[in-house]
Formats: sequence, C-alpha cells, structure tokens
Amino acid sequence: MAFPATRMRRLRRTPVLRDLVRETRLAAGDLVMPLFVEEGTAAPTPIEAMPGVARLPVDAAVVEAGEVAALGIPAVLLFGIPAAKDDEGSGAWDDDGIVQQAIRAIRAAHPDLLVIADLCLCEYTSHGHCGVLHGQTVDNDATLDLLARTAVSQARAGADIIAPSDMMDGRVGVIRAALDADGYTDVPILAYSAKFASAFYGPFREAADSTPSFGDRRSYQMDPGNGREAVREALSDVQEGADMIMVKPALPYLDVIRRVADATDLPVAAYNVSGEYAMVKAAAAAGWLDERAAVLEALTSIRRAGADIVITYHAKDAARWLQRTP
Ligand code: PBG
Repeated sequence: MAFPATRMRRLRRTPVLRDLVRETRLAAGDLVMPLFVEEGTAAPTPIEAMPGVARLPVDAAVVEAGEVAALGIPAVLLFGIPAAKDDEGSGAWDDDGIVQQAIRAIRAAHPDLLVIADLCLCEYTSHGHCGVLHGQTVDNDATLDLLARTAVSQARAGADIIAPSDMMDGRVGVIRAALDADGYTDVPILAYSAKFASAFYGPFREAADSTPSFGDRRSYQMDPGNGREAVREALSDVQEGADMIMVKPALPYLDVIRRVADATDLPVAAYNVSGEYAMVKAAAAAGWLDERAAVLEALTSIRRAGADIVITYHAKDAARWLQRTP
C-alpha cells in the first residue's frame, strides 16, 4: 500500500506513540564505564583531552565505582597505570599490581558490580607496545605466555570478566587454557576481536600513558579499511573460546558491528572510544552540539548497529539522562 493509504508520520505523532514503536532502546543496563586507576598518587589527575574523566587512585576508583553501580550501570572496565614500567610489562601480572589492587578493593566494596579487567601490556611496557619486542617487532608468540599470566593474576584478584585488547593472534585460546588450568573455568573472556589501528585512541594514550615510543600499532591492530577481516577475527576468537566479542572503535565502525553481530550468536560489545568522547565534549563545550541529545543518539545508534553492550565514558551521564523522562 502506498500513499495516501500509507502515512509513515501516523506513528510519529506523539511521544507515547513514538516510544511504543521504537525498535532500539538504550538503558543504563547496556552500558559499561571504563576507569583509569593510577598507582602512587593520592588525588585524581584530570585527563585534559577527556573532560570529566580522570586517572584515579584506588580509593577514588572505589567511590567512582559506587556511583556507577548506583546509577544502574552493571560493569566497570579497569585500566591500570603502574608506577614503574619495564621491557616486558611485568607490572601487568604482579598480584599486587595496580589493577589487581583495584579489582580487590572494588569487589570488596561493591560486590554486585561486575569488574572487567582490560588485559594488555601497553600500559606496563616501557616502550608502550602491546607485547614483548624482538628487535623492532612485537613478538606474537612470546607475548602469549605473559598475557596468560596476567589473565590468571586478574582472575585471582577477583575479576569477573577478562578482556584482552592486545590483538595478538591466538591469545584467546591461550588465556582460556590458562584460566581453566588454574580453576577459573567460570571466568568469561570478552575478546577485543576487531580492534582497529585507530586515530581515535589518541586521548586514551594520554590517559593511560601508553603511546608507543616508536612506530605504531598497525602490525597488530586491524586496518581501518577491512570489514570482512573483522568477521574472520571475530569467528576465530569464537573458535578459541571467547564468550563475548568486541568491535572497537564504535561510531566509525557501525557497519563492522552489524557484520559481526550478524555473523555470530555471541553477545557483542562495542567500545565508544576516547576520541569519540573527546569530539562530542569539545563540540558541546564550544556550544556547537547539544551534548545530551548527541550522546543519547550516538549510543542508541551503536545499539541499533547490533551492539548488546556499549562501553563508553559517557556511561554515567547517559544513565542519569535515561532516568528522567524526556
Ligand atoms: C590497550 C587499549 C587501548 C584502548 C583500550 N585498550 C589503546 C590502544 O590500543 O592504543 C583505547 C581506548 C580508548 O581510546 O578509549 N591496548
């Protein structure tokens, strides 16, 4: 049936009608809030390119996690900034490392909040790459054992979910085997499966102090032009035992989220990264965008593309905005 029998505007007439027929909903329960936990500091250090986000000492991270939980956000994603770094990134698997301390403290204070541990060596290596170096190249297979050790250490500290973000081949299988061997058979893996070598990580690298001292991450993170390969990455992680998969960044890769969501039945997460956050905050601060409307629209779009879970620095603001009726 065509116009005039069909009138698309009929279902857009009032807010209640629009709400009734809305296909994609956004709720605080879909969101994950990333937190940066810093060792050896007493007070939060604001991150200039991420207004509203700071590196937190453990006690402040515990308070922040409590606010996150109170807003109905089910999980935090933890990144650690250690006091000292070395070639191998040994701070990553130190049972008394910064992330392990934070996991224990947050678990103890907020037992119902899920704690997801980001698993990568780049915040812990003196050279800033995501694995151990062999000359100027990141040695894939030599890195796997260190990732496995880190995963077990994070699980031992009480992490609910392990999220490897390094993009080494084979790491999901190796991490699964290591967790199982130590009795952590029930700890799920959220694999950063399709992680692109992206300019939108810029502010994060300031936040986590993880800018590579030479070169870039293009020999291990994905080329931005590749969508088919993202599906291969996701399927290979599924085969290795991933429980959930991630696409990252989110907004410039909505098509990839859709393809990956169509290709697998696992829950799909998408990471609305630091650069995506910085763009909205900068435009809003200049008065060029309505922040609330832009954020809710962007997060809804990420869900519409196929993400079940949205990791975003806007999580607390979005959860607050979603509590109020429009
Ligand atoms: C670690 C890691 C990065 C991000 C998450 N985990 C940075 C990178 O790969 O350079 C980026 C997150 C963000 O930009 O918000 N490998």
